[in-house]
Amino acid sequence: MCKNLNLLTANTILNGKNKWYLIASILFLLGCQPSSNKNSFNPKSSVIPMPTLLEKKEEFFEAKFLNTKDDFKIREFELFKKQLKNYFPKKTIFSKSTSSKNFEIKIDETIDEDASFYELSIGQEFIVVKGGKKGVFYGLQTLFQLIVLNYDSISNSIRLPCLEIKDQNSFEHRGFLMDCCRHFFPLKTIKKYIDLLAIYKMNVLHWHLTEDQGWRIEIDKYPKLNTVGSWREDSTGKYGGFYTKKEIREIVKYAKERYIEVIPEIELPGHSQAAIASYPFLSCESKQIQVANSWGVFKDIYCAGNDSVFIFLEDIFQEITELFPSNRIHIGGDEAPKFRWENCEKCQKRMAQENLKDEHELQSYFIERIAKDLEKKNKSIIGWDEIIESKINSDVTIQSWRGFSGGIQAVKEGKKTIMSPTSHCYFDYDINSIDLEKVYTFNPIPSEIDSLESELIIGGECNLWSERIPSEKELDRKTFPRLLAMSEVLWTYRKDKFENFQNRVEDHYPVLSRLDVDYGIESSPVRLSSKINNRKIKAVVNSKIKNLEFTYQWNNEEAKPIKKNGEIEIPKSGKLTLQAYKNGKKYGDQKVEKFAVHLGLNSNIDYQYMYSLSYQAEGLSSLINGRLGSLDFKDGQWQGFSGKNLDVILSLDSLTSINKVSMNFYQYINSWIVVPSYISIMSSKDSLNWEIIKSVDSIGEIRKRGKFISSISFDSLETDAKYLKIFAKNYGKLPSWHEAAGAESWLFIDEIIVE
Ligand code: ACM
Ligand code: ZN
Repeated sequence: MCKNLNLLTANTILNGKNKWYLIASILFLLGCQPSSNKNSFNPKSSVIPMPTLLEKKEEFFEAKFLNTKDDFKIREFELFKKQLKNYFPKKTIFSKSTSSKNFEIKIDETIDEDASFYELSIGQEFIVVKGGKKGVFYGLQTLFQLIVLNYDSISNSIRLPCLEIKDQNSFEHRGFLMDCCRHFFPLKTIKKYIDLLAIYKMNVLHWHLTEDQGWRIEIDKYPKLNTVGSWREDSTGKYGGFYTKKEIREIVKYAKERYIEVIPEIELPGHSQAAIASYPFLSCESKQIQVANSWGVFKDIYCAGNDSVFIFLEDIFQEITELFPSNRIHIGGDEAPKFRWENCEKCQKRMAQENLKDEHELQSYFIERIAKDLEKKNKSIIGWDEIIESKINSDVTIQSWRGFSGGIQAVKEGKKTIMSPTSHCYFDYDINSIDLEKVYTFNPIPSEIDSLESELIIGGECNLWSERIPSEKELDRKTFPRLLAMSEVLWTYRKDKFENFQNRVEDHYPVLSRLDVDYGIESSPVRLSSKINNRKIKAVVNSKIKNLEFTYQWNNEEAKPIKKNGEIEIPKSGKLTLQAYKNGKKYGDQKVEKFAVHLGLNSNIDYQYMYSLSYQAEGLSSLINGRLGSLDFKDGQWQGFSGKNLDVILSLDSLTSINKVSMNFYQYINSWIVVPSYISIMSSKDSLNWEIIKSVDSIGEIRKRGKFISSISFDSLETDAKYLKIFAKNYGKLPSWHEAAGAESWLFIDEIIVE
């Protein structure tokens, strides 16, 4: 966090009392009638991210042109002019006419060039932007927003609320990860995003350039990385591409002019299948493999026992460091299955020679060796939180993605940290799991961190992994409006009320449209909660979005209207379909949810092993709430256990005659979710004496690809019980043929249906 905030002690909006209407009325009475549009002028100060200090006055500035008289010979001003020209192609914003000057940029030489601090003062007759060069750049971005939010296109005049802003960043690292590997984006898209990042005061483009599915950067010394590694064969034919060195330089320069640092990510030792497909000697087995054409984690990774691999990587980093002026390089380090290393003579020999106790230490050896090479090249490294699973001595920055815990550990070890937990920062996730409000509640500084340690948390990033982002349109829908929340969290930190923020976001939609952003929705339009009473379920329709109407349809019956907070009785097992409407038009996708009405609803449940905090669904009520998980395993109903068995006891209200027990398991082998290998149910009348009533060995087909739900049902039980013990054995480590062989598998279950 920035330490100089003593300058700006409060994050306050001092709204002047709105006397404009009073002034307008007086002018009217004096016979000096303002034009009707003036009457309705309600100046907006909805800047995002909200400035640290903003004092709004009741007066306003109005002029036909920003009259600069003499030009300011600085790039920041040229860019600002270009921005306005692009936004208002048919209008003239600047003039050098003889009329008096009304706009001034003051570069304060006493302010550090790298300081983001700026002051913006808008008076009735005059606008001043003041700061160091960088500060002036940010001040002009704020002014850009104010101009586009308030421009009066009827009178063709620039109207602005009078105000005083003093502003500076809270976090120094405000990042956006763009994955150009899973899907390849043209330079035009990258430049559009750099422009957008600048407007919203983000300052890091984390450019993910190498992956299993494609190597995306030109390398002279190893041309096959581009002739082979940049292309994959998939159902659409040959897919891929790479950025030439000239293009990379162009992007780096374009970004730098907008105060955005481009940090390349060159993944190692995992996520390297495209490199291995180009040069098979890089892997433990040295076998020819293909550039990956599916999504997941792959077990063929760089061999840690072969010195040629390190020579290759040192050569790569030589070319990379010549292209990127940033003093930081991201080296990945995430999701590297250790299976090949465990079975490789060279890797095992390295471990013996270096006295490394396991493959995690071998990974640290790998990272340290790369860090040392990069240190010689005057670069420090950033790596995902896996790189501190084993001790690492080099000066590394940790990017925490598997929750906050990796970041907390890193900070406790004195390492700089960037927070980007999947819970708040993965914008590739569906809006159902991370909506605008969720992003707005993101606090990069967890409560476990004291104020001194918090200095090590340099900021956060939102990540746009592109497996399911094949186009710029989808990138827009996933990024916006969530990026606005991230920008405010990272720039302003001490935040506005969400409702106020939401109102400001509303003001930005027309701006985003004009900036060619095909933004998505703020949250899923329909949410359901449920109540259970006397084994009867009532579904309740909720929404965080204002002014929507809804319909619901039970099974194939006719759709009926329902209001927000309306309740729907679920009479028996079946399917409910909901649709939201805005102004009579469908808003968002249908929501379909299946229900099971059964004897176990709301029974008591005890867990031998707790579910994972990342997949807790609805917690203790989740498996007995009558709501069934869908094919989206992040829908909030599926409960997940990593490497652990499901072992629960259901206590029913009373001794019950039970005929059937069924349950749903999920399999999506690419995400390591596998149906259990063994399931049993036991029953008891008193919770002391148990009898196994049924068991089944190995269900489902472990090799089956895709996402599917496997329902297992134990019929004809004819038992009287008050207690049921359900045991489902986790598959265990992923088998050798799996791309991520050796990793812990997940068991996902939803609902234990008792009939
Ligand atoms: C990651 O999402 N694998 C860093
Ligand atoms: Zn090896």
